[in-house]
Amino acid sequence: MSASSPILAVNDLSIDLFTLHAGVRPVDKVSYSVAAGETLAIVGESGSGKTVLNFFPLGLMPLGVSVSITGSIRFDGKELVGAGEGLLRKLRGGSIGVIFQDPMSALNPARTICRQIAEVAELHLGLSAMQAEARALDLLKMVRMSDPEARLRQYPHELSGGLRQRVMIAIAIAAEPKLLIADEPTTALDVTVQAQIISLLRDLQKRLNMAMVLITHDMGVVAGIAARVAVMYAGRVMEYGPAATVLTEPRHPYTRGLIDAIPRVDDMPGTPFRGLPGSPPVLSAPIKGCAFASRCRHAVETCQTARPPLAATNDRHVLAACPVVNGNSEVLYAG
Ligand SMILES: Nc1ncnc2c1ncn2[C@@H]1O[C@H](COP(=O)(O)OP(=O)(O)O)[C@@H](O)[C@H]1O
Ligand SMILES: [Mg+2]
Repeated sequence: MSASSPILAVNDLSIDLFTLHAGVRPVDKVSYSVAAGETLAIVGESGSGKTVLNFFPLGLMPLGVSVSITGSIRFDGKELVGAGEGLLRKLRGGSIGVIFQDPMSALNPARTICRQIAEVAELHLGLSAMQAEARALDLLKMVRMSDPEARLRQYPHELSGGLRQRVMIAIAIAAEPKLLIADEPTTALDVTVQAQIISLLRDLQKRLNMAMVLITHDMGVVAGIAARVAVMYAGRVMEYGPAATVLTEPRHPYTRGLIDAIPRVDDMPGTPFRGLPGSPPVLSAPIKGCAFASRCRHAVETCQTARPPLAATNDRHVLAACPVVNGNSEVLYAG
């Protein structure tokens, strides 16, 4: 596989969930790709389907939900939709490293940090217990853990949230994955620690030349880490393109709203939240037109009835699912 062909290609992916009470479609015809060694940010409000999209197809989902997946996910030449649990188990923690939002619930409270990291190295790299423990120490150094020798003997509850997330990262990269999927890795952490973890992820991604999918609800963390960004809303990709362009010249009204919601350094105390008024649609009812139409001040009649395709804008590298932008961007942002 050449360096420029995608390591991950998601095509027309839809995911339906059925619980005892209802069916929902949290992922609705989503397409994107990630090149080897590239970072893609997936941004969207809570409930927009980011976790379901990234983890359910890998077999990482809660019990009691039945899942139907259509479309295609090609990872490193293999099709994951419809793949058996054997392949998925081999990939998880192997060629695909995963980091969860809440490190405490992902770590085993009863085992030492050393054991939890070493286990992955034994399973996926075939190392002996002694080799794996040496690797665990190296990994703690790689994630810039202070006093790594002492940390190895500790248990998760003895560590702060930020240190636990470093352990999660060490576990995720233990088998030198080709792809790292980090699901809101800093949401549960203090602001100062957030910046350290993001910078650690960026450095590791470069150093190990991994592809990375960074999931976040915060547009503020995208700049400086992601080459490209996919903006999700109600299970759909609304805008997709180079991060620098999307952040400075958002095409889709939803992207514009997310960017306006980033707090600014020069905000006066008491500045009202500039976020989007209204709330995302309920996913249990099928959405006919544009999922954002009810909150969009630029919506025209067709937005209520026809789903706008993700199509090239006046910049062909930027795709947006908005007929108003795609038809005539001047109309949208004039004034
Ligand atoms: N365990 C579950 N059971 C039923 N529905 C779920 C479950 N997890 C997620 N969903 C549905 O999928 C939607 C998207 O969830 P999720 O992917 O967790 O959003 P995000 O990660 O963007 O915050 C939710 O709004 C909900 O409707
Ligand atoms: Mg989530």
